Amino acid sequence: MQRTSIVDIKDLAGQTVDVYGWVHTRRDHGKLIFIDIRDRSGIAQVVFTPGNKEIHELASQLRSEWVIHLKGKINARPENMVNAEIPTGKVEIEPIELEILNKSETPPFPLDTDGKEIGEEHRMKYRYLDLRRERMAKNMVARYKLIKFIRDFLDEKEFLEIETPILTKSTPEGARDYVVPSRLYSGSFYALPQSPQQYKQLLMVAGLEKYFQIARCFRDEDTRGDRQPEFTQLDLEMSFVEREDVMALNEELLVSIVKTLYPEKKIQEIPFPRMSHAEAMAKHNTDRPDLRADKEDPNLIAFCWVIDFPFFSAEGGPASGGEIKWTFTHNPFSAAKKEFSVDLLEGKNIENILTSQYDVVLNGSEIGGGSIRNHTPEGLKAVFKVMGFSEERINQNFGHMLEAFSFGAPPHGGIAWGIDRLVTLLNNEMSIREVIAFPKTGDARDLMMESPSPLEPKQLKELHIEIKK
Ligand code: AMO
Repeated sequence: MQRTSIVDIKDLAGQTVDVYGWVHTRRDHGKLIFIDIRDRSGIAQVVFTPGNKEIHELASQLRSEWVIHLKGKINARPENMVNAEIPTGKVEIEPIELEILNKSETPPFPLDTDGKEIGEEHRMKYRYLDLRRERMAKNMVARYKLIKFIRDFLDEKEFLEIETPILTKSTPEGARDYVVPSRLYSGSFYALPQSPQQYKQLLMVAGLEKYFQIARCFRDEDTRGDRQPEFTQLDLEMSFVEREDVMALNEELLVSIVKTLYPEKKIQEIPFPRMSHAEAMAKHNTDRPDLRADKEDPNLIAFCWVIDFPFFSAEGGPASGGEIKWTFTHNPFSAAKKEFSVDLLEGKNIENILTSQYDVVLNGSEIGGGSIRNHTPEGLKAVFKVMGFSEERINQNFGHMLEAFSFGAPPHGGIAWGIDRLVTLLNNEMSIREVIAFPKTGDARDLMMESPSPLEPKQLKELHIEIKK
């Protein structure tokens, strides 16, 4: 017989079905034994009566989280026994056959709660159990649906999803790199990508015009509530576009996601309000303002765009007894706003140069950012010159980009969203760890796999690595 999903039995009163799942809860009243059986789709009540002795005896052995197969008849519950809290609450299962597929140790914590009462380290160590709880399973489904929606939407608009390397080269994108030692090239290292930034720009040089990727990114930075060492971006790049085109496409996608997948939510203002970085700082004292009129209402959400960021920020200077050193605020590959492109090329008026950068903010959290890029070798070089890089260093770090741009690079621009952050906010969760199947702890460990971990001496030797004590 075919397997029936538990949620589907709600419409099957009178029929006999086969269900498979876990013992969610068990209430033994001696004569009557009540089991809630759970699969991914939901839970349903099973009632074992003493009438069928053999099954009743077997049922009395069942414990939480045992895995069972049940053939049973679906009966409508009497009116006064209906449970309005669950979708299958109008029916119950009368067992005909019970098969125990696997036993379970007593779980280290309850799985029939939302889990918020349990210490996070404990949850992480037994993440595969933690994910069995309804809240976590819902989050996994929501994340999948959101990513699928993005893929379908962009496919419709003729984007190509293209994978870019995970073993790549150290890039100056602001955070520390995770590095991978090379066995074949002693003393040399790959870096894991902080983002696919350079590759996606090279795909534009390659003429692919519209790229996206649900991309894993790695940054060795201090972990906070909304940061993970590895996280997921919707990464996107387009050729022959201006800032308005990229912003419009992303706004349309965000609005469609909310309207389709979160119809209970109300977006406070469409089109999304926009403000300059200067205005955000002056009015809200932050570059990611929370514009919600009512922060208590979980279904009111507020997006906004922040634009016109300063391109460079100064470090050092006469006040600290040294020369001013300029560094990029967001992305060295960004273009200046058109009216500042001459200043950038000539290295003048640096403190006033604004970048084409746009950030998208949701409820006070930066969920994405991007820019129109420098697509000429001169433009890109000018950025590094402002930062005081020598010709030699520019060529060493970015020679491949400058060379690529010398072969007819089209004007292009793009954006990346923090998928984990977006899913967290839309699902009213407090931390991105709640929407990632196997996240790292706040101190960057995987407690379940016990990673990071030391290597065998043989492995170290192959990698030409010696550990200093
Ligand atoms: P940026 O560094 O702003 O831009 O990253 C884009 C978005 O990714 C999310 N994010 C993170 N989420 C979880 N954990 C982290 N450690 C983390 N770091 C960033 C944020 C952020 O807005 N290549 C550029 C994009 C571009 O210009 O196209 C980039 O990576 O939501």
